Amino acid sequence: MPVPQSLDPSYIPRHVAIIMDGNGRWAKRQRKPRLFGHKVGVDSVQEIVEYAGEWGVEVLTLYAFSTENWKRPADEVGGLMGLLKNYLQQELTRMLKNNIRLTCIGNILKLPADVRETLQATMQETAGNDKLILNLALSYGGRAELIRGIQNIAEEVCSGKLSSADIDEKCIDSHLYTVGLPDPDLLIRTGGEARLSNFLLWQASYAEIYFTDIMWPDFREEAFRNAIAEYQSRERRFGKTSAQIKSG
Ligand code: IPE
Ligand code: IPE
Ligand code: MG
Repeated sequence: MPVPQSLDPSYIPRHVAIIMDGNGRWAKRQRKPRLFGHKVGVDSVQEIVEYAGEWGVEVLTLYAFSTENWKRPADEVGGLMGLLKNYLQQELTRMLKNNIRLTCIGNILKLPADVRETLQATMQETAGNDKLILNLALSYGGRAELIRGIQNIAEEVCSGKLSSADIDEKCIDSHLYTVGLPDPDLLIRTGGEARLSNFLLWQASYAEIYFTDIMWPDFREEAFRNAIAEYQSRERRFGKTSAQIKSG
């Protein structure tokens, strides 16, 4: 699967982050249980991971479960955890074949032990892969991530390892779950809502944001291609003027 003609292969976003929203509403519209939407959503994950790797995306961060999602009914939470474990078990062979490295961000200590163990095993087994980083946001919240980072920085200042003057952007980056990853270039939210829902609050400061009404179970190759095409049509100015950007 080469990069499609409608995309510029030299300007593929390095890091794409996706808020995979709309599974429940997609299922309800068909009078099916919400979990059915999550199940079909896993098929979208498989497809998007495959295209991201083929097209040259380096990091794909998928918001799979937020710190706030723990408030959902227990059967839905349990269903999602089961799907996650199945996904990891089923996809390991493909990840190894396609040179995909699995990583995660979030408080995984809150995940059920069996899910956490499967996750850790998958991360270990794929640790040597380097074509695409598939980074799952699990029990992730941008605020919780910042609190954890600030607490760690405070401890290092108290112990004398760090001085308060050393706290700059690089220092904060290095105390977040995303340490070592580039900031997201393109942040996609499916499902029609136009909000961040506590996702990558620090890292997305200059991400190009793309909202689409397409529900996650329907978000497949064409929709992904359109999102990247829109990204490629935008001018990223980072505070500068258009003339400055054009003169390189
Ligand atoms: C996204 O779909 C998946 C998760 C948040 C786990 P939703 O479950 O939020 O679906 P809607 O937004 O209710 O349709
Ligand atoms: C955001 O979706 C979280 C994930 C996609 C994992 P939600 O459906 O939980 O977001 P809100 O609550 O509608 O903002
Ligand atoms: Mg939702």
